[in-house]
Amino acid sequence: MDKISILGGKTLEGIIPISGSKNASLPILASSLLTNEASSLSNVPNLLDVITMKDLLTSLGINITSNKKMLQLEPSNIISTHADYELVRKMRASVLVLGPLLTRYGEAEVSLPGGCAIGSRPVDIHINALKKMGTNIEIKDGYIKAKVINKKLVGADITFPIASVGATENIIMAASLAKGKTLLRNVALEPEVDDLIKVLNKMGAYIKRRNDNIIEINGVNNLKGFSHAVMPDRIEAGTYAMAAVITAGNIKLLNADKKYLKSVLLYLNKVGAKFEYDQDGIIVQGPKIINNVNIKTEVYPGFPTDLQAQAMALMVVAEGSSVIEESIFENRFMHIAELVRFGAIIKNIGFKAHIEGCNKLNAAQVMATDLRASSSLILAGLKAEGKTIINRVYHLDRGYEDLEKKLSNCGANIRRI
Ligand code: EPZ
Repeated sequence: MDKISILGGKTLEGIIPISGSKNASLPILASSLLTNEASSLSNVPNLLDVITMKDLLTSLGINITSNKKMLQLEPSNIISTHADYELVRKMRASVLVLGPLLTRYGEAEVSLPGGCAIGSRPVDIHINALKKMGTNIEIKDGYIKAKVINKKLVGADITFPIASVGATENIIMAASLAKGKTLLRNVALEPEVDDLIKVLNKMGAYIKRRNDNIIEINGVNNLKGFSHAVMPDRIEAGTYAMAAVITAGNIKLLNADKKYLKSVLLYLNKVGAKFEYDQDGIIVQGPKIINNVNIKTEVYPGFPTDLQAQAMALMVVAEGSSVIEESIFENRFMHIAELVRFGAIIKNIGFKAHIEGCNKLNAAQVMATDLRASSSLILAGLKAEGKTIINRVYHLDRGYEDLEKKLSNCGANIRRI
């Protein structure tokens, strides 16, 4: 079980290259199931979740060759439509193969993703939408067993009860080869969805995001291969921006794109950070004093739930008290107990965390529980006096490429043991 050790108290200064977005890579990889032509995807981050998706697609019959960050995807003619539990249990985003398999092959058997540390994470919104497009679906033996009723899925007018990112992506892919027009209402506005739409339109789909929060898809008969470079990872960029803040450092986030980070940069500005922007990234100057600023996570373009744990690490050492409210997931406060081990003063009442800022943290042995919680422990470790050990760092490897290298290049005393 890998551990990471950090000797805290260093001021970070330097350049961190931001990798391709995990949450754009995963649905775009799944879209390779929609065509029988070869595709290529560049700027793909080398992450455990990407490896899991590659393994899943290979098991379904896509031949994948990769060199560095470029993937070549070649659909073979033996396609399986069974996504096995052994692979799906590792990553919830595996459910994103359901829409493509159904719309291209008329049937699919995908293991239920199961919950994860941050909540039960059901897929009812995905399933109800596919039923509306003409699919018989039953949940049996832990699998979603789906069969298109007529030859092809049929376009429908669908309103999502929650602006689910995954459901929006799954149904966009399903509708791209369906018969007729699909209207999706109350859709996710996350930029990773737009990166997927860009790829699908390159493949010959007709998808447009209307300015009334509706996505309109006109189904086509088939789709071509694609060539695309994945957008930069805004959550990775936000995480390292917070590393500059918590160490009062100065970090250039290479390739970070400020247009996807508006709510985060606004928040960090209130916290006291200063920014410079040039054509290849964002320079973040951390403040001497961290101001206490309340947060409520929202769907995009609000403050992202994927940066809530990291922001909490900042508030733990802010001047004064603050409240962080999590409104997207029902159990995304697993990092509180671990931050308290550093000496943080945090009280969790329902979906709110009440934080008393303290001016120093003591190094501790802590446990990563989920991907983004583990990055908040890294931030606390960078600040804490003494040697912090973080256990179960495989969680980190799911979403952060070369984390120790990127941080030690900026002066952090961090290593894997
Ligand atoms: C995506 O997950 C991201 N993952 C998550 O990032 C991110 O936290 C989340 O969106 C919210 O922004 C990927 O893109 C691979 P949702 P997703 O469907 O699609 C409920 C990370 O750290 N819901 O928007 O699974 C759900 O339980 C990961 O990179 C239903 O009730 O999130 C949650 O409370 C973590 N029924 C809320 O909606 C459904 O059918 C938002 O979930 C689907 C979702």
